[in-house]
Amino acid sequence: MNTTAAPSLSWSQDLALGHAVLDQTHQEFIDLLGQAEAADDASLIVRLQALFEHTVEHFAMEDDWMKASAFGPQHCHGTQHQVVIQTLQELLRRAREEGDLELTREILPELGKWFAQHAQTMDAMLTWHLDQVGFDPLTGQMSRAPTASGEAAACGPASCSS
Ligand SMILES: [Fe+2]
Ligand SMILES: [Fe+2]
Repeated sequence: MNTTAAPSLSWSQDLALGHAVLDQTHQEFIDLLGQAEAADDASLIVRLQALFEHTVEHFAMEDDWMKASAFGPQHCHGTQHQVVIQTLQELLRRAREEGDLELTREILPELGKWFAQHAQTMDAMLTWHLDQVGFDPLTGQMSRAPTASGEAAACGPASCSS
């Protein structure tokens, strides 16, 4: 099959977190996801690779911020990132080694749904925390010490299941 699809996700103010660096990164993610969804068979792997590379950097940036700012729920947030990275790696492997593009075409819209929920929950919690501690993403410094209440934003089963 050599069909293309309309993007499953578009940028909107519902996804804006009010954090300039992360909002820019999220818009880039949505653009790359849309390009992969719209790709024909000849260009799908290249588009998927571009999405993968951007996502590795995007998630590593958030993981670094979580560590540097003593963000409480970093464990399950980071675990969600790892699952998505592993999924994209497997899609690339299947596409390259087995010529399976259909699985990628099935999963990409699901990735769009996952991303919208992730941004509005996990990433929203992270940006709230970064604002609370006055975290500067350029220097990695905090202008206020993390409070017990900030770290107590526990990562319970409910927040880890999404
Ligand atoms: Fe993110
Ligand atoms: Fe995230």
